[in-house]
Amino acid sequence: MCGIVGYVGKNNCVRVLIDGLEKLEYRGYDSAGIAYFNDDKINILKESGKLENLKKGLDLSVDSNIGIGHTRWATHGKAKKENSHPHQVGKFTIVHNGIIENYVDIKKDLEKKGYVFNSDTDTEVLCALLDYLYKSDKNVLNVIIKASKIVKGSYAVGILFNDEKDKIYVMKNKSPLIIGVGKDENFIASDVPAILDKTDNYISLEDGDYGVIAKDEIKIYNNKKLRNYDVEKFEFGADLIDKKGYSHYMLKEIHEQPDVFKKTVKDYVNNDLDGLIKNMPDFTKYNKIRIVACGSATHAALVGKQMLEEYGNVKTDVETASEFRYSKPFLSKDELVIVISQSGETADTLEALKLAKENGNDTLGIINAKGSSIARSADMVLYTKAGKEIAVATTKAYSAQVAMLSLIALNLSYKKDLISSDEIKKILASIRTLPSQMQELLNNKDKYKEIAEKLASHNDIFFIGRKVDYALAQEGSLKLKEISYTHSEAYAAGELKHGTISLIEPGTPVISIVTDDYIAPKTISNMIEVKSRGAEVIYITNKTDDLKDGLYDERLIIPRTHKLFSPLLTIIPLQMIAYEVAKIKGCDIDKPKNLAKSVTVE
Ligand code: F6R
Repeated sequence: MCGIVGYVGKNNCVRVLIDGLEKLEYRGYDSAGIAYFNDDKINILKESGKLENLKKGLDLSVDSNIGIGHTRWATHGKAKKENSHPHQVGKFTIVHNGIIENYVDIKKDLEKKGYVFNSDTDTEVLCALLDYLYKSDKNVLNVIIKASKIVKGSYAVGILFNDEKDKIYVMKNKSPLIIGVGKDENFIASDVPAILDKTDNYISLEDGDYGVIAKDEIKIYNNKKLRNYDVEKFEFGADLIDKKGYSHYMLKEIHEQPDVFKKTVKDYVNNDLDGLIKNMPDFTKYNKIRIVACGSATHAALVGKQMLEEYGNVKTDVETASEFRYSKPFLSKDELVIVISQSGETADTLEALKLAKENGNDTLGIINAKGSSIARSADMVLYTKAGKEIAVATTKAYSAQVAMLSLIALNLSYKKDLISSDEIKKILASIRTLPSQMQELLNNKDKYKEIAEKLASHNDIFFIGRKVDYALAQEGSLKLKEISYTHSEAYAAGELKHGTISLIEPGTPVISIVTDDYIAPKTISNMIEVKSRGAEVIYITNKTDDLKDGLYDERLIIPRTHKLFSPLLTIIPLQMIAYEVAKIKGCDIDKPKNLAKSVTVE
């Protein structure tokens, strides 16, 4: 969601900015722009739509060594050129990620003072505020301090100032911003991959930080004091921004899942009965668990709920962060609050975490991005081992979240003495064979294509399942919707006949997921009900026993494993079917329209 990049150094900044914005495309955007110093004045170029539109009008050989760039994901005003960043008012030119919540009031005040606005954005208002404050205090850092006391909301901002042609100013609150540290050159960016081919040394800015960078100097302040900082090294190599021969990042990331699982096991599972789970706090003192997350992370939580209740014997509730944060939380003191987030920057999840902390509850973050805002705020953190995820639609990070929740459930079961050593042996054996079973499913490409060809022409598709299979149905449905723009619904199979079954017509595709032996006969009955009404049934199951002919149209067999890890297999066909449908429909799979990778606004 909105990408920022900035450069000051010895090289041509236009190339660096465009390179950086290309690397940030994965965050999702609908317009782009850059600003750079040239012949002592600031040039601004911006266009709506894809970066290609901006690139068409650029002179890449221009002689400039300092500039800022932005990809905008529209929040205030349409995705049109006038609303794109950078915005300029007086001597200030800025790019911004976040939302200035009180911009309407500030705008009214500034209008009374004679400011006229050319866009619908909150960003132009912030820019005008900086200009206004500068009239009475000719020091840009003081202006930033004053502005940050007036504005409410989230912001990561890069600022060029007309009279200082060798500096980029920054200010940050609640939206991510890093400073990339080079030799005789420095960078700003929303995320390290934007600059990873130039440097892997970076500084994470904290909320309330502001500062200034030149090519050989970085100064960061907080609370009116210069602060010390650590330069961190990004742990993933530049090759993460390489599709490694796959046609899309999403496909590459789906195929990385066996490795992600192996890494998770290496870091969290002891290969013997002694200890079983390592590097994990003891959660047995909690009588309840509340998991709060957004999107796919909520779907991972719903799978986790089944595992935590069945194996960990602990009551677990799952809530959507955007709802939870505005509700009375009803958290009891013996309740552990788990927040799950790939990016660690999701605004709603971060606020939900704050609410839980204010309530005095212990909090655990299951996070993929090291050092992210949520990881820094949670009392305890378990890092998922998915590595950087580039495709907007999550796949490997989702399955890493599911794996982590299953391991927490297993840990609880073990520590509460609820599990026999025979079962532990079976679990360890399943863990060992799971990566090759995942690979076996990944090799089934032709089957997924065949199913996708049947689905691609339909406008409405249903997913059904019960318990863990319902949780998986929800994630399968979301994957299909977001990348192939096909409307689909996930239903608890038993709920269908309470209304939705009226939508089933001859030929309506229904993907029926049946992997939980305990509930399988019930879901199969529901499957038969839709088949009787003419549905085209795709039966995804780990059951190999023959059903009567004609009860399904396609069957996809999932290898058997221990129930704790079965979802990590079932999800693969669902991801692959969504991918193949999107491919047939010619969609922009890695960057679906209207979506952003890191949702830093509420
Ligand atoms: C869907 C997807 C989103 C995210 C959600 C939460 O494919 O990626 O639904 O799961 O926006 O994001 P994180 O996990 O970064 O908090």
